[in-house]
Amino acid sequence: MVIYFSSTGNSQYIAEQIAAATNDKVISIRQVLNGGEKIFTLAENENFGVVLPTYFGGFPSIVKDFFKNIKIKVEGENHYSYFVATCGGGYGNINLEAEKTFQNFGLKLDAEFVIFMVDNWTPFFDLNNKKYVEQAENKVEPALKEIIEKILRQEKIKIPASISAEEAEKRYAIYENLRDTKNFTINENCVGCGKCARQCPLKVIEIQNKKPVWIQEKCTLCLGCLHCCPKNAINFNNQTEGRGQYHNPRIKKII
Ligand SMILES: Cc1cc2nc3c(=O)[nH]c(=O)nc-3n(C[C@H](O)[C@H](O)[C@H](O)COP(=O)(O)O)c2cc1C
Ligand code: SF4
Ligand code: SF4
Repeated sequence: MVIYFSSTGNSQYIAEQIAAATNDKVISIRQVLNGGEKIFTLAENENFGVVLPTYFGGFPSIVKDFFKNIKIKVEGENHYSYFVATCGGGYGNINLEAEKTFQNFGLKLDAEFVIFMVDNWTPFFDLNNKKYVEQAENKVEPALKEIIEKILRQEKIKIPASISAEEAEKRYAIYENLRDTKNFTINENCVGCGKCARQCPLKVIEIQNKKPVWIQEKCTLCLGCLHCCPKNAINFNNQTEGRGQYHNPRIKKII
């Protein structure tokens, strides 16, 4: 099985491609949280893979909560297990978090991979910059091919943490602070279509009087609402106006 979370399609694309090559099934965290089965069985000899976007050098909060709320029945001992972090430029210590998570399910993490893709964190990256987006997209296929070959050979790979534990903690604390939904605003271009509300994996947006309203204090800050808005009307922390939107071009629908 390949478990993934994705907001703008990068991790979904990687998970689907790996699953197709290894003949494994994909499990979408978004779907499980929206009423899917929360108990999984890992059959004898079955691979266990997890593919996630990196958020401030760690797991998205939605993924932490997911792993706290599921059960995996592990049958037998012969499981090749791997973790793939998709990211824009820095994976922080996300691989160490993956090691711990796998351990909690009684699984040893055999291989750790990082794949650099378009960075959807528009407070830092201007995705109107076509050259940046094109260059990042062009690097994906060769890197993915290499990862798939290593997974098929069941290689054992450990990558180093890229920052100190102290730095990782500091960086992740910024994420925790920013997750306040008060940081979202909409501009006059909003037409009340509700796409942002449908896209939100946590269902924290409600359309009231034809405008989106964030009904919970915190969210997972995936920026899915911002990137999917047909009018680009959502602004985060007054930092993303005019900085473009992203949707992985190889993925039709984010699941
Ligand atoms: C809240 C947030 C934090 C992020 N933090 C990082 C980071 O620490 N390092 C990095 O390289 N990319 C970071 N990114 C970029 C994403 O990890 C990257 O674009 C990923 O491929 C998106 O995957 P998705 O399309 O499956 O959602 C961040 C994105 C978001 C929304
Ligand atoms: S997706 Fe954009 S236009 Fe549609 S309701 Fe949300 S903010 Fe408004
Ligand atoms: S409100 Fe927007 S950023 Fe927050 S979880 Fe929902 S889609 Fe993601």
